[in-house]
Amino acid sequence: MTGAKITAIGTYVPAKRLTNADLEQMVDTNNEWIVGRTGIRERRISRQDEYTSDLCVAAVQDLMKRYGKSVEDVDMVLVATSTPDFSFPSVASLIQDRLNIQQTAGAMDLSAACAGFVYALHTAHSYVASGMHRKVLVIGADTISKITDYTDRSTCILFGDGAGAVLVESDKQSTGFLGYQLTSDGSGAHHVYRTGLAHKVNNIELIDTQMLVQNGREVFRWAVRTVPLGVQQLLEKAELGLEQVDWFIPHSANMRMIEPICERMNYPMEQVLHSLVNFGNTSAATIPLALDLGIREGKVKNGQKILMYGFGAGLTQAGQLVELNLDERVGEPTLL
Ligand code: UT7
Repeated sequence: MTGAKITAIGTYVPAKRLTNADLEQMVDTNNEWIVGRTGIRERRISRQDEYTSDLCVAAVQDLMKRYGKSVEDVDMVLVATSTPDFSFPSVASLIQDRLNIQQTAGAMDLSAACAGFVYALHTAHSYVASGMHRKVLVIGADTISKITDYTDRSTCILFGDGAGAVLVESDKQSTGFLGYQLTSDGSGAHHVYRTGLAHKVNNIELIDTQMLVQNGREVFRWAVRTVPLGVQQLLEKAELGLEQVDWFIPHSANMRMIEPICERMNYPMEQVLHSLVNFGNTSAATIPLALDLGIREGKVKNGQKILMYGFGAGLTQAGQLVELNLDERVGEPTLL
């Protein structure tokens, strides 16, 4: 296998803030409940004319500026999203043109909900490790606000919009990707969904609102029960121990989920990175946003081992353990 590593990262969130105080004016809720049950204080909401492709382009521009990178020679574009601008064409195709990436590069979207970024990262690693690709652009981006029912207090308090991009490049000397874990349990597909052409799954009639619908309590229980097992399996395959993991980045679904997950794993909360407090649940973007916040704050450093673990609709899970080895930064990050 050819060595691969993440060489650069960039992120973007829309300017408009939706605070807990704003939500108090919209549904029967209050700041204490939201902070106490989720840890979230505000989220960013895309403009009416701002779509997932726009967020992706802005995240990649941040990446290029910070690391002095060009993307013209990228040979594969992968966008993980559940909220593409269109069912087709893909967001990846739209941004290929806007970013002047060569027409001979592959471009496709990947659907694995909140586990999407990590699925895409694993896919990028596989492409590069096989020797068939050299430079893959991986983006996790969502505009869940566009499919959020702002009359449903149990979901509208959770979600926000955002994007995170990384470059995965081949490097013979590097062993940047240390282990992975992918799972899917379709028997729980009806617990979190948005209807499309079909309106029934697992023999269950779905609510056809075209908005995101979720049984939060069921997803909560499933994640707290299964994520620690998935992490354990990943580490066993990688022949590494949890004490060797410098930072754990679980999907930022809810602080009250991350805490029992870490408790069950016996992992210190001080070594957890998340993007919840100011951005909420940004679906496929939570993990790259959390990683980037850690980098921007100077906590995360090259040489450290980082365990990213996404989970969500599907029900999907994806974990990836990497040793970080970013290129040297040459420019300032765009303000978030
Ligand atoms: O990223 C995709 C995957 N999704 C997730 O991981 C979401 C996982 N689930 C969750 O984060 C939590 O289940 C929620 C935050 C969605 C809900 O928290 P909970 O502690 O599980 O609340 P609950 O659904 O058990 O509801 C408890 C009570 C209910 O009232 P009653 O029936 O006890 O009178 C709800 O109606 O809290 C009420 N409630 C609220 N009250 C004030 C629900 N939402 C709100 C709200 N404000 N926003």
